[in-house]
Amino acid sequence: MDQIVSLCRRRGFVFPSSEIYGGLGSTYDYGHYGVLAKNNIRNRWFEAMVQERDDIVAIDSAIILHPRVWEASGHVEGFTDPLVDCRTCKLRFRADKLEDAQCGRKPSKHPGETPDCDLTEPRQFNLMFETHVGPVQDTASRAFLRPETAQGIFINLKNVLQIARRKPAVGIAQVGKSFRNEITPGNFLFRVREFEQMEMEFFVPPDEAERWYRYWIDERMGWYRRYGLRESKLRVREHSEEERSHYSRGTSDIEYDYPIGWSELEGVANRGDFDLTQHTQFSGTKLEYVGEGGERYVPCVIEPAVSIERILVAMLVDAYDEEIVAERQRTVLRLHPQIAPVKAAILPLVAKDSEMVARARALYEELRLLHMVEYDDGGAIGRRYRRQDEIGTPFAFTIDDQTLADDTITVRDRDSLAQERISLSAAADYLADALARPWQTPKPA
Ligand code: GAP
Repeated sequence: MDQIVSLCRRRGFVFPSSEIYGGLGSTYDYGHYGVLAKNNIRNRWFEAMVQERDDIVAIDSAIILHPRVWEASGHVEGFTDPLVDCRTCKLRFRADKLEDAQCGRKPSKHPGETPDCDLTEPRQFNLMFETHVGPVQDTASRAFLRPETAQGIFINLKNVLQIARRKPAVGIAQVGKSFRNEITPGNFLFRVREFEQMEMEFFVPPDEAERWYRYWIDERMGWYRRYGLRESKLRVREHSEEERSHYSRGTSDIEYDYPIGWSELEGVANRGDFDLTQHTQFSGTKLEYVGEGGERYVPCVIEPAVSIERILVAMLVDAYDEEIVAERQRTVLRLHPQIAPVKAAILPLVAKDSEMVARARALYEELRLLHMVEYDDGGAIGRRYRRQDEIGTPFAFTIDDQTLADDTITVRDRDSLAQERISLSAAADYLADALARPWQTPKPA
């Protein structure tokens, strides 16, 4: 993980947030390549979940919803972690994760393990960030930043079913920021307090719930394979009954073997009719499906839910490689070309050669209308290649002497390092074809 953190910093993917003020723990800002990579992850998810289907529509609900939403959902009452305080070192710990924490005085021990530790009884701590709506700060104006995007979908079911003229099975997808006052954030972007969730609530007839639950586990596993995560680093783990959330009739985690060990990448849950029944009760508005023949029922909900942060960390970890080439070490991110921030670099071999520069600039200006590409004429060509390898750029087009003579350019492949010559005028088609082809991962299993 340290290598990933340092590469992200060095190459401008991710910066610690508020750094000039000393930083704000476990909060990050995204630089240029981080933004591009996140956009790509979001777009690939949206394509698979909405664009390539005819049974799912999109929504973008508010972040601050009516406070009753969170009473109905169970978050006000139950979205809590048990905490203990140590009266000696004055630190606060999650009561159910003491074995993962370090004693404030003796870091080699866990809290409670030394004779000096003096822990309080556990108390429940709500993970929602509170705020106030309007100028008066009293209980009537209390509101919350959403801890999940899902509830904004449930409360809009009636609107969507009416407008979209659809019947179950039908899904509503949402991407947006969620906020949780995590007690033990950490491991880089893996557990942060502000993250971008991608959730899809799939509403189905109750007798089809189990089938769709299995279907969505398979679909989502297929998406991770499609974008290059190694099979050996992915697994599905079904929750035991005790582990499940209050709303769940079945939950499976798609886990990735992160540097911190196997951990939840994405959750797929069968939420039953819990949410729709609760919102019907609390709001007085019936959230149900009424068919043309008058048949009515409360649909069950299948939910695949993930954050862009967890996908980004998994993809970076999976892609990171170091190898020796011509007696020099090269660091390369073997990202799937459709996830890579930059698709191609356009490089004049000699930066001082005005004709090479003019040809390279012209190619860059043509390609940038179609893809995120980068022009670079700074420094030795080897250093420019290495920089592109580190940000995962799959192709480099080099303009050299021969280009001036016969209008051909070199294409360098990031993974194989193979170079081939193509005609300058074919560069746009070459790139479009290469990006559209299924990508064979060059990583070891
Ligand atoms: N609507 C259901 C729900 O929110 P969850 O398991 O609490 O379920 C879903 O969260 C997904 O959101 C997780 O699988 C993970 O990908 C992501 N996630 C949750 N908490 C996170 C955090 N603090 N930082 C980054 N991602 C987080």
